[in-house]
Amino acid sequence: MCGIVGYIGYREAWPIIIKGLHRLEYRGYDSAGVALMNGGLNIYKKAGKVSELEDFTQGVNLGGHMGMGHTRWATHGAPSDRNSHPHTSGDDNLAIIHNGIIENYSSLKETLISRGHTFKSDTDTEVLIHLIQDIQEQTSVDLREAVRIALNEVIGAYAIVIMSKDEPDQLIAARKGSPMVLGVGKNEYFVASDASPIIEYTKNVIYLNDNEIAYIKRDELLIKSIDNIVQTPYIQELELKLEMLEKGGYDHFMLKEIYEQPRSIKDCMRGRIYPSEGQVQLGGIKEYAEKLKNIDRIVIVACGTSWHAGLVAEYLIEECARIPVEVEYASEFRYRNPIISEKDIVIAISQSGETADTMAAIEIAKQKGATIFGVCNVVGASIPRASHAGVYTHAGPEIGVASTKAFTAQVTVLTLMAIYMAQQRGTITQSKLVHLLTELDNIPNLIEKCLLSNEHIQEIAEKFKDSRNFLFLGRGSGFPVALEGALKLKEISYIHAEGYPAAEMKHGPIALIDEEMPVVVIATQNSSYEKVISNIQEVKARKGIVIAIVTEGDTEVTQMADYTIEIPEADEMFLPLLATIPLQLLSYHIAVMRGCNVDQPRNLAKSVTVE
Ligand code: F6R
Repeated sequence: MCGIVGYIGYREAWPIIIKGLHRLEYRGYDSAGVALMNGGLNIYKKAGKVSELEDFTQGVNLGGHMGMGHTRWATHGAPSDRNSHPHTSGDDNLAIIHNGIIENYSSLKETLISRGHTFKSDTDTEVLIHLIQDIQEQTSVDLREAVRIALNEVIGAYAIVIMSKDEPDQLIAARKGSPMVLGVGKNEYFVASDASPIIEYTKNVIYLNDNEIAYIKRDELLIKSIDNIVQTPYIQELELKLEMLEKGGYDHFMLKEIYEQPRSIKDCMRGRIYPSEGQVQLGGIKEYAEKLKNIDRIVIVACGTSWHAGLVAEYLIEECARIPVEVEYASEFRYRNPIISEKDIVIAISQSGETADTMAAIEIAKQKGATIFGVCNVVGASIPRASHAGVYTHAGPEIGVASTKAFTAQVTVLTLMAIYMAQQRGTITQSKLVHLLTELDNIPNLIEKCLLSNEHIQEIAEKFKDSRNFLFLGRGSGFPVALEGALKLKEISYIHAEGYPAAEMKHGPIALIDEEMPVVVIATQNSSYEKVISNIQEVKARKGIVIAIVTEGDTEVTQMADYTIEIPEADEMFLPLLATIPLQLLSYHIAVMRGCNVDQPRNLAKSVTVE
């Protein structure tokens, strides 16, 4: 959460920073601000989106070759002009932008107040820049040393960039627990939360490690640890392409990403499946092939949509590989002294690879000796780096805040893992392997077919756009699909929605059903088809409105339901990959019809780096 971008070099800094902030807005959009070195240290900041900052600075001289910008997802202090970053020291000589949380800010603030500091905002960030000023005043060390000393005093997570009025040729950046990448150009450097603001200027990047500080001049870079030891930077080449960050003719990133799924799933399987041989190869976890033969248990930790992918994996791994699986919210796991040992494999699932709760869960599981497999989308992010092994989802950048293609790519990777484990453990026959992999290989084509229902789904959306509540029901692996459908709808359209296992409905939620309640039921022809039909009858008997996701050619549910959306027939294992698509489209259209900001829903951010 919070996006940061900085530039030092020979180009005009403002356009680079503003463009970068637009790209980073998915990380937070409560306020935006920029500090520019332009005949002094000038700060422009405003509550609201980056476009409001642009309006606010119309007509201002925004020249200068060094600057930094921030887009905020509020934690400490409400979204407002005064809580917007950059924040300044008491003497206004220093400015800082920050992503993360300074946990001991309150005790630091008390000490600083007792020494005469006064604060202009309610943020933890302002405390850090005052602390740096205070250290300089108390000890007469230079700015570099003051920053280093201050960072040794703070507890929490940060990615920061600092500018000083007195050192108009230097940016100082540091990270601990929040991502930060440096772009390396010729006589210029960039710094950002992710590579998206950098991509059109340079392909050469350095991912800063935790507890590192970068001292950046236009023609000089020095990286040191916070223990003052010089580090050797590792420059790598970006694989990201500019077109991946653009809408490509779609009205919204979310719609583009929904339509990208046939491609993203293909990318995710590329080089990993060999259908005719009945083989899955996962280079990222192959060192653990032996261990997989003997483990007694897998624990999955994740949050939100990624947790739903974990629930799908529970069905898949238990079904194929016969390994017991437990799926935990990372935020609960980390606070309850979980029983984990070196015999366990913990799979951490995360699109961003930066989610604070999932990171903390990994650390706890590692301390207890478990082997960690990461399933992540963002290459080089903190979670894959903290994992012992893992498999990337390769879905490409997901910009819409509501996760779509990342979810189906996670489910694809987890399907591959389930089959790989089954292969190692001999719990599946060769002919079944060939059958499953042949079907899996064809899933991108079946998703293309699901997408053909778009107009029909749009018509259904029109009928329900004003509903106040929705219920989503499914059984087996259709249950996490129902949860995901409900989450998508509530997060982008603000309609209250609940996902339930269909049979659980009679233990409570059935009381909600009346003639105004739309009930979306995953009712495809699989092992629970007959049972789901009974659940549909229970809804109909209470006058609920049924929107059923059915298998192509279905007649039985079609007669009972008020509306049906067909998906192609496939092995039950692949139901989540197909049934999710119409639910994504339904949420999307309802949200658009309600005039909601689909790509940037209120109060949310793409990468939740705070607990
Ligand atoms: C919902 C959504 C969130 C994320 C959750 C975890 O559409 O995107 O629920 O799934 O915040 O994020 P990652 O996967 O980055 O760990």
